[in-house]
Amino acid sequence: MATTAKTPAIRLKNLEKRFGIGDAETFALNGVNLTIRNGEFVAIMGPSGCGKTTLLNIIGLLDTSYDGEYELDGVLADSISKRKQAKIRSQQIGFIFQNFNLVPRLNIIENVALPLAYKGIGHTKRLVMASEILETFHLNEREYYMPHQLSGGQTQRVAIARALVNQPSIILADEPTGNLDSRASYAIMEELSALHKQGKTILMVTHNPRLTTYASRVITMLDGQIDTDTKVVTDLAEEALKNSKLPKKTRINKRRQNKTARASKRKRK
Ligand SMILES: Nc1ncnc2c1ncn2[C@@H]1O[C@H](COP(=O)(O)OP(=O)(O)O)[C@@H](O)[C@H]1O
Ligand SMILES: [Mg+2]
Repeated sequence: MATTAKTPAIRLKNLEKRFGIGDAETFALNGVNLTIRNGEFVAIMGPSGCGKTTLLNIIGLLDTSYDGEYELDGVLADSISKRKQAKIRSQQIGFIFQNFNLVPRLNIIENVALPLAYKGIGHTKRLVMASEILETFHLNEREYYMPHQLSGGQTQRVAIARALVNQPSIILADEPTGNLDSRASYAIMEELSALHKQGKTILMVTHNPRLTTYASRVITMLDGQIDTDTKVVTDLAEEALKNSKLPKKTRINKRRQNKTARASKRKRK
């Protein structure tokens, strides 16, 4: 893809997603504007039903019916053929879901090697690659276990290893620690943090405010829209510095943040 360092990884403009028709119509997304640069680690929060999963599904090219614009690496997702989209999904995007089901009849190493099969890599090479990534997750002793023999935390680590075996540049995680105790959650967050340091772009939905400390940016959603975004605060601070004026308050309150977001939305219209 034609990417430059400045091309955002993801750009959403007035993104809308409707479910149902007539009286039953609901807006799962109601005008989302969002730009995410390569290498950002974005935590997404918000009440149940506010559109977080819908947003990740669209970004991950799992859902292609929406209104508005979605640019991935500077290319309109709409203009990418279904075949190319499938290729991007399997090679550039890593998905980690809350209830990530491993294939129960395959052992751990076969599960992790599975995505490589779609790339046409030979069986032995696939197992070597899977084994290497399992080693980085300290799971190499479990390679020949069956999924039901692992703990919740181990299963999720295997799921992450499987999401990463293709070396994706974007990682989409939907409540990856939702079913885990705090110790297992911490281990998963350390893994995501290490990936962030390697330069991967990460979008992680979480209900746990504590976990947002790992992120470089925190977005909250409400009723299908972006409600708050720490990036807006950073932008304002940068602008203030550029104008050689010290910001009156270093911590910009939420009302002002929303006002700025509304103003920039109007400008873009
Ligand atoms: N397949 C679907 N069919 C109908 N409505 C849906 C579907 N998926 C999501 N919705 C609705 O869209 C809204 C956003 O859902 P979702 O993105 O799953 O929220 P979140 O992940 O933030 O909990 C909710 O009102 C939900 O009921
Ligand atoms: Mg959800």
